[in-house]
Amino acid sequence: MNSTEAHRPSPLGLGTDGLVFGCDYNPEQWGKEVWREDVRLMREAGVNLVAINIFGWSHIEPRRGEFHFDDLDEIIALLHENGIGVNLGTGTSSPPPWLTTLHPEMLPQVSDGTTRWPGGRQAWCPSSPVFREHAMTLVRATVKRYGSNPAVVLWHVSNELGCHNALCYCDVSAAAFRVWLERHYTSIEALNEAWGTAFWSQHYAQWSEILPPRDTLSFINPSQQLDFFRFSSDELLDYFRAEAEIIRSSSTIPVTTNFMVTAHIKTQDYWRWAPEMDIVANDHYLDHRLSVPHRELSFSADATRGLADGKPWLLMEHSTSAVNWQPRNRAKAPGEMMRNSLTHVARGADGVCFFQWRASVKGTEKFHSAMLPHSGTDSRVWREVVELGALMHRLGEVAGSVVRSDIAFVFSWEAWWATDQEAHPSTDLHYLEQVHQTYEALLAIGATVTIVAPGADLTGYRLVVVPSLYLVSDSDARVVTDFVANGGHAVITFFSGIVDEHDEVRPGGYPGAFRAVTGISSEEFYPIAPHDSVALSDGGTASLWTELLHLEGAESTATYLEGPLIGVSAVTRNVFGKGVARYLATSLDSIALAEELHRAVSESGAVAVAPVTAGVEVVRRSGAEHDYVFVINHTNSDVEHSIAGYDLVTEIDIVTRGVVASGGVQIVRQKKETS
Ligand code: GAL
Repeated sequence: MNSTEAHRPSPLGLGTDGLVFGCDYNPEQWGKEVWREDVRLMREAGVNLVAINIFGWSHIEPRRGEFHFDDLDEIIALLHENGIGVNLGTGTSSPPPWLTTLHPEMLPQVSDGTTRWPGGRQAWCPSSPVFREHAMTLVRATVKRYGSNPAVVLWHVSNELGCHNALCYCDVSAAAFRVWLERHYTSIEALNEAWGTAFWSQHYAQWSEILPPRDTLSFINPSQQLDFFRFSSDELLDYFRAEAEIIRSSSTIPVTTNFMVTAHIKTQDYWRWAPEMDIVANDHYLDHRLSVPHRELSFSADATRGLADGKPWLLMEHSTSAVNWQPRNRAKAPGEMMRNSLTHVARGADGVCFFQWRASVKGTEKFHSAMLPHSGTDSRVWREVVELGALMHRLGEVAGSVVRSDIAFVFSWEAWWATDQEAHPSTDLHYLEQVHQTYEALLAIGATVTIVAPGADLTGYRLVVVPSLYLVSDSDARVVTDFVANGGHAVITFFSGIVDEHDEVRPGGYPGAFRAVTGISSEEFYPIAPHDSVALSDGGTASLWTELLHLEGAESTATYLEGPLIGVSAVTRNVFGKGVARYLATSLDSIALAEELHRAVSESGAVAVAPVTAGVEVVRRSGAEHDYVFVINHTNSDVEHSIAGYDLVTEIDIVTRGVVASGGVQIVRQKKETS
């Protein structure tokens, strides 16, 4: 077997063969002599897609109605002549000073009612008609000029919609919120019912009395808060639609915007957004505030693949090395950028792009890494960029292959919004932490999962994992129950099924919507103080959460050995219909959690599990003729494995035993078995 397989055209439909390798580029920050050097070096690095005009508004329209496209024309032509595709920003992400000066009423307000001023970016209220009018004028002019330009292969609407301005509490937003509520509830009484306004004298007589959840003296109405998240996500989605509609009316080039599936931004319900994208694109930055950042990277990549409905997706931004917006911005270790990039590819990305091409020397992001760092081409970062570019080219045959799994993992932005509200049993319970812990335990046992929305069709899966799904509608919960009744397996963890879509508790015993399928009923919650833990009868330990659980048909597989709930079940297993549902009433230590999940995976017969050594990720992408097994070594030692085939990274045949170097990656091509 050799290294030359035919490259397939990228299924992303961007006119490139094989995988995409690219970046954000901000030529407006540089003189034109630099542009030419940049394009020469882009070719040297193998760049085939460049995002421009992301923050171009004040350049293109320096004064109201006065458009200057000459520079953009020139850079687009230069990139095109050099065979580099253009990912064209609509430029609306940040309004120019003339606009905010002319219309200060479009500035966003935060929850305490104070205004956020221009001088940073995204200083606009998502509901502002004035902002929208001016933004759409710019989009119309840009699409008119470049709508059929052969250099442009992708439209990039705005930038990270909602990164800073997702939640606006101004009067314009208040009016839009009321319109959204009226559309949803039709009658004010239905809203009163859904929000439980009989409580604390909150009953509304008319729509005009309703406000966004601005800062209050006490706890705020949780359903109001929840609906405000929904409204805010919908409002920006509507904004995306408005731009996309203009683009699509006169251009056939695919349209996208860059998502932020990340630990620190929760305001967009991307399950609702994803179907509107021609290509799903995500931005991801390692977050060193998390204990093991690369695991969150894997989760983000899997979630993005879920949003793309299993189809290849595009990593629109990540960093070559340090970012500049965390408390301490760590440079990446040698090989780490390659490992990060290939982890995204392993989990379904057909392209890897960076923010940004050339490191800025002015402005807020001057200490953010780039493909071409301040130190220039005689640098480790540059050498690694060139190496990665060459590898991405060699990996062209991987394009279009898919990741398969028979384990579904339920993830919900709505549940995140609802779970992390105030006045809950424990301030230590955070939805995303539970999601990550459960995901990481699956990672530890080598299980590849498909991340799905609540209510997603589970046909074809063997196991569904449902971490702390506090908020779930009856119909979405029923999908899990029916799945188990029909022979599927489920793992459901504590604080699931508690409330419906209005945040109304299901009385009669927790976990409410999952009571029947789990065969248990809990009376009360007993949160555990931070740093405390409780020993379990099976040798594991419990922390964070326990509950007074009664068996209603389920068998107990572990009980508490100490604390107020001695002898009460902590882990249960219930045969329900033709299937099995396990319930974890507590936060198990990582080993016990991995063991429990391993039992569930084995019993379910799921096959999406790879033999792994701790710290080594193994993920399989399946193509028409070959499979590509990504072996990603996060450890400090070389690791042996028995995955045979041709390694596209080192370009050697692995006959029986391979060695993946410490911090390295192998991508082992295997001929598909024909049956
Ligand atoms: C993203 C943004 C880029 C850049 C980058 C820095 O949020 O889209 O423009 O700011 O972060 O990490």
